Amino acid sequence: MSPLDDGKQATWGNDVSNPVQAGAAPAYFSAQNVHAYYGESYIVQGVSFDVNEGEIVALLGRNGAGKTSTLRAIARVDAPQVQEGEIWLDGHPLHEMRAYQASGLGVGLVPEDRRIISGLTVEENLQLAQIAPPKGWPLDKIYELFPRLGERRKQEGVTLSGGEQQMLAIGRTLARDVKLLLLDEPYEGLAPVIVQEIERTLEHIKSLGMTTIIVEQNAIAALHLASRAIILDMGQVVFDGSSQEVLDNAELRQEYLAL
Ligand SMILES: Nc1ncnc2c1ncn2[C@@H]1O[C@H](COP(=O)(O)OP(=O)(O)OP(=O)(O)O)[C@@H](O)[C@H]1O
Ligand SMILES: [Mg+2]
Repeated sequence: MSPLDDGKQATWGNDVSNPVQAGAAPAYFSAQNVHAYYGESYIVQGVSFDVNEGEIVALLGRNGAGKTSTLRAIARVDAPQVQEGEIWLDGHPLHEMRAYQASGLGVGLVPEDRRIISGLTVEENLQLAQIAPPKGWPLDKIYELFPRLGERRKQEGVTLSGGEQQMLAIGRTLARDVKLLLLDEPYEGLAPVIVQEIERTLEHIKSLGMTTIIVEQNAIAALHLASRAIILDMGQVVFDGSSQEVLDNAELRQEYLAL
């Protein structure tokens, strides 16, 4: 699909107003005409896209395009407030849920600021994630994925390096039973060698078939991981197509990603 030049959001196959229409199976994840506000500020302006089970989608766009706000709307955190639209995951109406309910259903947001809890060790941070069901990966499996976390299990989480904290933030989310992984700038502020290490981990998570939406300023890295890309501009979807199309289209990258 080409970038849309009429200023309207991208459209996709199904009638977005009727996700369970006869003959059309709803997508595993589907955001349908989502409008969200911070107080009076209208930020997410009718975003629609879907993600198939096991698919990795890159959600891209310039600074301030509304990527984080879209992830937060999906995770049902208090702000921005979703005032219109529907968000579905595996047949469940996320738009009717609070954040804790969405989390219980399997929405796992790894926030940009990582939010490692101070005063707790690496292991305690992971254990805390498993206090309430549903539990996800056992700690051994998380340490297998991130050996550095295993080596530092008794170290206070906030004293980890930036890259290690990112690993802990991802590990903590996998400690819950995740159906939809939402990654907000997992490579941000990290040295290239650490980015590569986390990329390898995400490739492994991908091979396990975890449905994922990744937001990244490092669009090229995200496009290599993801099979499909959604580009946001001013709170609207301006492109929905394959990652390869974005990689091949310099004009599109220049216009919306400044690459
Ligand atoms: N808590 C808030 N209150 C009011 N406006 C906000 C709030 N958080 C974000 N915004 C505004 O919403 C818009 C979209 O922000 P958002 O953080 O979603 O963008 P983004 O695409 O994630 O950008 P970046 O690439 O810089 O992380 C911006 O104009 C931002 O100033
Ligand atoms: Mg952001």
